[in-house]
Amino acid sequence: MTTPLTKRLDDTKVPLNKAIDAERKGDDAGALKHYKEALEQYSCCIEELKKKFQLYSERVKVIEKNPNLGSSKTDMVQAVFSLTDSSPESSHVVKLSDGNLNSLGGLEYCKQVLREAAIWPIEYRHFFTGNRKPWRAVLLFGPPGSGKTLLAETIAAEAKFNFFSISPSDIVCKWMGESEQHVKDLFQEAREKAPSIIFIDEIDSLCGPRGENNEHEPSRRIKSELLVQMQGVCNGAEHVLILAATNTPYDLDKAIRRRFDMRIYIPLPNDEARKHIFKVQIGETPNMIGEEELKFLANDTEGFSGSDISYYVKDALYQSIRPTLRADSFIKTGKEWVPCQDAGVRHKKSLQELKKDKQISEIQVPKIKLAHFKEVRERHKPTVNEADLELLVKFKEEFGVEDEEPSDAPRPAKGKMKTVSK
Ligand SMILES: Nc1ncnc2c1ncn2[C@@H]1O[C@H](COP(=O)(O)OP(=O)(O)OP(=O)(O)O)[C@@H](O)[C@H]1O
Ligand SMILES: [Mg+2]
Repeated sequence: MTTPLTKRLDDTKVPLNKAIDAERKGDDAGALKHYKEALEQYSCCIEELKKKFQLYSERVKVIEKNPNLGSSKTDMVQAVFSLTDSSPESSHVVKLSDGNLNSLGGLEYCKQVLREAAIWPIEYRHFFTGNRKPWRAVLLFGPPGSGKTLLAETIAAEAKFNFFSISPSDIVCKWMGESEQHVKDLFQEAREKAPSIIFIDEIDSLCGPRGENNEHEPSRRIKSELLVQMQGVCNGAEHVLILAATNTPYDLDKAIRRRFDMRIYIPLPNDEARKHIFKVQIGETPNMIGEEELKFLANDTEGFSGSDISYYVKDALYQSIRPTLRADSFIKTGKEWVPCQDAGVRHKKSLQELKKDKQISEIQVPKIKLAHFKEVRERHKPTVNEADLELLVKFKEEFGVEDEEPSDAPRPAKGKMKTVSK
C-alpha cells in the first residue's frame, strides 16, 4: 500500500525538526544533512502535489462553466477521486480471502453469536426494530491459539463485511506518532463503508488500566480515542460491529471492558472440536486418516490449542514425505516412481537422476497416515499452561459467557483460583 501524501508530508517534520535543532546548537554540518534529507522527501511529494493542483483547478473550471454537471462519472471525476486521500490507496480496509465459520472446529456458541451479531441484522432487518438491537461490541477472550483471530476474520469473510483491523503492531510500526488520528479515521471509514467489522486484536496491549504511573501519554490518548469511538459506534445507526480479542482480559481497562455488550470465552478445543480441527488442517492432502484415526488423534491431544494442532499436523505432513525425498533409489511401478529398499533391483534411479531426466513430477506423493503422526508426537506438547487457564476461567465466571460445549481440557480446581481485580 502506498503511503498517503499527507502522511509523507507529515514525515518531513522529523528531519526538519532535527535540522532546526542542529542549527540552534551551531551544528551546521548536522543541519545541512537533515535539511537535505527533508528536501529529498519534499521533492517526492512535489510532483504529486502539482498533479493534484492541476487536476483540481481544471475541475473547478469545468464546474464553474457547467454547475449542473454534478458528479457524473467522467474520467476526470474518477481521476479526482483516485487522487484524494480517501482513495483505496489510503483505505484501512483489510482484504480477506473467502471464509466460512463451519470450517472452524467447535466454538458453536460463539459462531452463533457472531452470526446473530453480523448476519441477522442485515438479512432480517425488519426483526430489529424497537428495542431489539444487534450486538455492537463482542470481546473474544481465551488462551493463545484458540482461534480468536481466525473467528473474527472468518465471520467478516462469511458475512462479506468490510474488515478493519487495529493491532498493537499497526500502532507501533505503521501509525507511529499519529495513532489517535488513525483510530479516528479508521472508525470513520468503517461507518461510511458499513456494514463493517472493526477488529481490535490483542486489545489488552492497547487498553490496560488507565491512570497508572508508568502509562505513556500516547498510549493514554489512544485509549481515550478508542473509548470515544467505541461509544460512537454503540450509539450510531450504521451497522458496525466491533470485535476484540485478548489472552489477558483481566488486564483490560474497566471502561473498555464495559463497552463490550458480549464477552465470550473461547476455550481450548474439546474432543469433538480437536477432531474437526485435525480434519480441517489435513484438508485435501492425500491421506489415509479415517474416523478412527481422527478419534485417536483427538484423544491423544487433550489440552492442545487449535494452533498446537496445526503445528502438529504440519510436522506430520512433512514427516510423510521425508522417507521419499531422502530415499537413495527409486523404481518405476506403473506410471510412478516409488522409493526402493532392495539393493539388488535393476533399473533403479537416484533422485539426482530423476531430476536430470525431468521425472521429478512422476515420483509418487505418499499419503499421510497415523504412523506419521506417531513418529513426530514426542516433539509436540500443549503450549497453554494451567495457571493461564485459571485466570481466564476466573474472568469468565465473573464477566463472561462460555461457548456452550464445555472444553474437556484440564480445568483448574476452584479453590486454587487467583483473585482478579475488577
Ligand atoms: N477452532 C479452530 N478451528 C480450526 N483451526 C484453528 C482453530 N483454532 C485455532 N486454529 C488454528 O490455529 C491458528 C491460530 O489461531 P488464532 O491465531 O486465531 O488464535 P488466537 O486465539 O488468535 O491466538 P492468540 O491469542 O495467540 O492471538 C489458526 O490459524 C488455525 O490454523
Ligand atoms: Mg490472535
